[in-house]
Amino acid sequence: MINIAVLGYGTVGSGVVEVINKNHASINKRAGQEVNIKYVLDLRDFPGDPVEKVLVHDYSVIVNDPEVKIIVEVMGGIKPAYDFTKQALEAGKSVCTSNKELVAAHGAELLAIAKANNVNFLFEASVGGGIPIIRPLNQSLTADEITEITGILNGTTNYILSKMTDEGKSFEEVLKRAQEKGYAERNPEADVEGYDACRKIAILTSLALGKQVDYRDIYTEGITKITKTDIEYAKALHASIKLLGTSKWEDDGKIYSMVAPFMIDSDHPLGHVNGVFNGIFVNGNMLGDTMFYGKGAGKLPTASAVVADVVDAVKHQGTNIMTIWEQDKVELGDRANFACRFFVRVADTTSKETIEKVFGEVEYVTLADVSGEYAFLTEKLTEGAFEEKSKQVDMIMRIRTAL
Ligand code: HSE
Repeated sequence: MINIAVLGYGTVGSGVVEVINKNHASINKRAGQEVNIKYVLDLRDFPGDPVEKVLVHDYSVIVNDPEVKIIVEVMGGIKPAYDFTKQALEAGKSVCTSNKELVAAHGAELLAIAKANNVNFLFEASVGGGIPIIRPLNQSLTADEITEITGILNGTTNYILSKMTDEGKSFEEVLKRAQEKGYAERNPEADVEGYDACRKIAILTSLALGKQVDYRDIYTEGITKITKTDIEYAKALHASIKLLGTSKWEDDGKIYSMVAPFMIDSDHPLGHVNGVFNGIFVNGNMLGDTMFYGKGAGKLPTASAVVADVVDAVKHQGTNIMTIWEQDKVELGDRANFACRFFVRVADTTSKETIEKVFGEVEYVTLADVSGEYAFLTEKLTEGAFEEKSKQVDMIMRIRTAL
């Protein structure tokens, strides 16, 4: 029997307990021994819940108990998760976490501490919820040079954009409904401003490179400015608007990373990823394109990935699973050199003659029910060039495209 402790009895923590209880026979078989939850740590009490029997409020009980070999950290946030994780690893316990803030900020350091203590720091659930993507990057795609990782990495924003597309509703209306249904937090900033997706693409890019990509270096734009009219234009272009986290390894030897809403062809594999689902598209120089798809959030899908890490940690007791993520920081390519085609809406105070003088050849996009404006697609331009040119026109909105 192996004893584990779960830090945090919120949505994911209670999911971890549920997964272990429900699938105990197959989990124990795969782990090679019985996985026993010795403690659950939470500040709150849960009267009447069976978890009461193992509930503790003091972390020192867990970290000082030599019988506990694996700690599941599902509290979220940096404090106190970082200190608890570090103490656990230094005490010779493996840690499995779903905490993307922790992994993005301290992943390299915690992996080094795990290695020094011959234990494991595993974080499959930190990106893509239940979708296997961390393990594939570490263990399956190792024969390839990765050339692109582009993902729909946030379920909340994908739900909002999908509903806006399907029901013709505004961002505010759909957000409100998402909050009522529990798909969006009461404070939705981390999701709708793209901060959550930013941490996730930083983790994936760090793993692909084996070096630290600082999430604070990644240009990040959310979806709050996307309107019903933008969605209508996208439909006219046979495109979907998706919040993408993207990293591209370009010919100049640099990696360009960004989180922003993009118009993508509706037939692109990511164009079919709707609702709360996530999709992660990876290109390798030998493999070509591959796509990972599934539930990127939610209690049981996320808990499923955490418990799979627990099983892996049990199987690798006494062995550190080599994960290359060094602490040296990567200098990302300058956003001014990132190139794409831009979708642009301008007020009709700017003539088409001016547009063509400024942008050269463009492709106009017509929508029957709009007045006072028109829209077009540019040729491929760098961000720097686009910003200069757009100063010369009465721009209403611009959306990057992968068209
Ligand atoms: N708020 C996140 C999402 C949860 O919507 O994807 C999973 O990280």
